[in-house]
Amino acid sequence: MMIIKRVSLLVSCLVVALGAMGQAALMTADRKVAAFYPEGYDATQHQPSPIFEHEPTAVMPLSADWQLRPRFEQRDGHSVATIAVGTGVDLYGTGEVTGPLRRNGRSVQLWNVDTPAYGVDGGSHLYLSHPWVMGLRPDGTAFGIIADNTWRSAIDCRDDEVVFTSDGPAFRVVIIESDGPQQLMAELTRLTGHMELPPLWALGYQQCRFSYQPDARVREIADTLRMLRIPSDVIWMDIDYMDSYKIFTFSPKEFPQPAQLNDYLHRQNFKAVYMIDPGVKAEQGYFVDDQGTAGDYWVKDRDGQPYVGNVWPGPCHFPDFIRPEVRHWWATLYKDFMATGIDGVWNDMNEPSVFGGPGGTMPVDNLHGSEKWDVRSEKYNYMNTSDNSAGKTNNTSHLSPLTSHLRFHNVYGLNMVRASRDGLLLANPQKRPFILSRSNFLGGHRYAATWTGDNLSSWDQMWLSIPMTLTLGLSGQPFNGPDIGGFCESANADLLAHWTAMGVFFPFVRNHTIKGSANQEPWAFGDEVLQVCRTAIERRYRLLPYIYTLFRKASLDGMPVMRPLFMADPKDLSLRREDRAFLLGGDLMVVPKDPKAQGAPDISTLQKKWPPITSALKTIEAPSGAVGGASPSAHPLLLQRPGSIIPMAQLAQSTAELRTDSLTLLVVLDADGQATGQLYEDEGDGFSYRAGNYRQSRLEASLAGRQLTVSLRHADGHMPAPAQRWLRIACIRGGRAQFSAWQQGDVATMKLHKK
Ligand code: GLC
Repeated sequence: MMIIKRVSLLVSCLVVALGAMGQAALMTADRKVAAFYPEGYDATQHQPSPIFEHEPTAVMPLSADWQLRPRFEQRDGHSVATIAVGTGVDLYGTGEVTGPLRRNGRSVQLWNVDTPAYGVDGGSHLYLSHPWVMGLRPDGTAFGIIADNTWRSAIDCRDDEVVFTSDGPAFRVVIIESDGPQQLMAELTRLTGHMELPPLWALGYQQCRFSYQPDARVREIADTLRMLRIPSDVIWMDIDYMDSYKIFTFSPKEFPQPAQLNDYLHRQNFKAVYMIDPGVKAEQGYFVDDQGTAGDYWVKDRDGQPYVGNVWPGPCHFPDFIRPEVRHWWATLYKDFMATGIDGVWNDMNEPSVFGGPGGTMPVDNLHGSEKWDVRSEKYNYMNTSDNSAGKTNNTSHLSPLTSHLRFHNVYGLNMVRASRDGLLLANPQKRPFILSRSNFLGGHRYAATWTGDNLSSWDQMWLSIPMTLTLGLSGQPFNGPDIGGFCESANADLLAHWTAMGVFFPFVRNHTIKGSANQEPWAFGDEVLQVCRTAIERRYRLLPYIYTLFRKASLDGMPVMRPLFMADPKDLSLRREDRAFLLGGDLMVVPKDPKAQGAPDISTLQKKWPPITSALKTIEAPSGAVGGASPSAHPLLLQRPGSIIPMAQLAQSTAELRTDSLTLLVVLDADGQATGQLYEDEGDGFSYRAGNYRQSRLEASLAGRQLTVSLRHADGHMPAPAQRWLRIACIRGGRAQFSAWQQGDVATMKLHKK
């Protein structure tokens, strides 16, 4: 208590002292994070910040050797922060973006927009905003810059400086210094919070279309997936399940018995995810609209009247998710809905998208908040330079005047999914909530996964999906992925085969397409493509023990599940621009095939050091038919890091059937004849893992002479191991695999052939 008092006293003195000089700067005791406050900083215009779950705790004056410092200014009515970053720095991040992984010379606007085929304003802004830039210096050290600002703004990444320009009032900048990109992600998510561990089923293959209707068609899709033995976990219900696009209702004609439909899916080990948009059809007598009007929950127009804009149902009201009481009301709506057996929720159109609205959204002078709402009551922020007594003062200036959409537009989606998440937890307190959101903001990974919106069925956008997914991961959103096969227009056989073959190595794996397009289920283009897709999806399922372990790690320390190659060796400058090949976790490299490329793929320095696992996969996959069918060329090259062990499960048709009692351990020894790996196991859903009901194991391999021993050692958690565990080793040397026999217990051994 005493210490806390002393720290806040120090802060107050410091603020007063530096405040007089115009700009304040503080850093954490570990000297990793510094916060910079411009002259005239008004916390009521920015707080509570949706970005930070934890503010940096202890603070002290900025040390003289702190490198990066923003220069704040007001220019042409904009608030600007410029950070000189030095020379030779590679810049990354900035959220969901078109273009390459490396962001030097690129600018993005932060203004969430509904952008079919990424066509709006040349793709310079998309569905999510992340005021975050990551920098990698030539020596491999890293820094991160957060502009703690939700107002409409832009980021300009030049070669030697980063410029944030905002339409709102002066904002603070938080800078992180770290030894490397891994540590930077850990530090970022220590501040912004971690993604909650998703349910295991959300990592499986998912089938979607706008829309599967009526319910008989949904059953048919589920039956076909099972009949063709395509492993899968989720069927998605797009807007046509609703009655006249009214959220929280079901079409009496096409989906009259949702509970029975969901039950049918569950009996085949499918989960059912349903869409909920923010726009509420403005119609007297419709319970959601009546409740929202009675509670005065709508976003207002400039005259203070409930704003009405068109979306799918026609004229709609829009919940003002910025207000806690509106979020609370919204959460209550999910109870009856989820009780029909719905497993997950898809929140779409939440930029918010308004058909025919200015810039495809609502007017910027629409109003959020209410006279009753205390903007700062939710979170006390000690780093405010203007006032350290938030939430404790009698001063009423913090009672929000109605505040413009310009400030809250970018966090409309974030606040929607925050409320939805509360709703799912209220409805099913024992289940891990799964929400997929199209729009979001830095920090919103705490509430929802994301997909990259309405992409195009084209080769260009297939390739684009790699840096886009990587960049989102580097921006603190590990659980994301594109519509596989592409959404707008129609896919063709080759495109679907290639996109699925590489897409199964992305964090989120869903095939989805627009109304009116050609079918693009794995079987839609005949046997050859079906075989490619099935083999690819089977690989995903076999790799799930490895992938689930990666999600667990992301939920603890923010490491992206899908990573750029430079993460493997931050000092290797040749990897800094690589955005076709990528890593799934730290140990598996995916080099997608380009059907248009002549000759062998361009292999980087790193790729030459990692052996391919193709020969091991061939042996593992043999029982289920020819590898890759007639188009094996669609499958990416898969390479494994020397010194690593990748655990693979036996094939399952859904995660409900997935078992970790029989594991094939892919082993690539390092130069010293050693390798290690990790395995995380738990119930796959629910929260008992939080109380220790999980099993974290360490895999260790070592070679003595020609004798290879691989062991699975319990490291953490108190979940018992499977009653019987069977292990088999697949040791990969020079691209060839040698298998051991299946052996019971936690240790497997084999004698390696002479090389
Ligand atoms: C939006 C979504 C798309 C969905 C469609 C109909 O365009 O991005 O995924 O299918 O709306 O709900």
